[in-house]
Amino acid sequence: ELSPIDKAKFAAARRAVDFIQDGMKVGLGTGSTAAWMVRCLAERVREERLKIAGVPTSTRTAELARELGIEVVTLDEAKWLDVTIDGADEFDPELNLIKGGGGALLQEKIVATASDQMIVITDAAKEVAHLGAFPLPVEVVPFGWQTTRALIEEMLVSMDVMGRETTLRQNGGKPFVTDEGNYIVDCHLKRIGNPRQLSLVLNQIPGVVENGLFIDLCDIVIIGGAEGEVEVRD
Ligand code: A5P
Repeated sequence: ELSPIDKAKFAAARRAVDFIQDGMKVGLGTGSTAAWMVRCLAERVREERLKIAGVPTSTRTAELARELGIEVVTLDEAKWLDVTIDGADEFDPELNLIKGGGGALLQEKIVATASDQMIVITDAAKEVAHLGAFPLPVEVVPFGWQTTRALIEEMLVSMDVMGRETTLRQNGGKPFVTDEGNYIVDCHLKRIGNPRQLSLVLNQIPGVVENGLFIDLCDIVIIGGAEGEVEVRD
């Protein structure tokens, strides 16, 4: 028996997979909700013998997809995708997102940008009026990361944000390392007044590879509920 939160995630994932048609090239997101989607997609592939090419957004998702019999290709092999289905950490009324809680934001943003459509699967707890309660992940190269972090903090002073604390993401006492070999600086901003501007300015800082703000990328949000109900927003 699934917990209420898993029921909600499963319901959203199950509904999202209805958007997939035979022959599509599909971006496969990362995280616990996206993992439900990969399972649901694998079931359709098996039962309906769909020909689907999946482009995973992390080594974790690649392993799961392969294990379940989904054909996995690289983004360079696929070149362009019909749709990406992914989770998120927060979404606002304009369907802008914070992502990267799982550390996969760089591949996730590249893959979403290469897709005709991005569908986000989530539960109602991730809906916010303003982004920023969830710490914004910023991926930085390890070289000179402390300088890069200081530049990020300095830049935040002139931005419309409420909090300015940053922390280096850790994993067992060591810096967390992304699939791309980078570090993550989590920015505790509490409330982001202008996500579009913040995203642009962050990516101007040398050493910053990418940030977890997804602006104008998401087309549809599917919100799952604990009773298995779903709401579709676009
Ligand atoms: C991964 O880097 C994130 O962007 C995930 O999409 C996000 O953390 C959502 O994960 P859950 O579905 O596990 O909440």
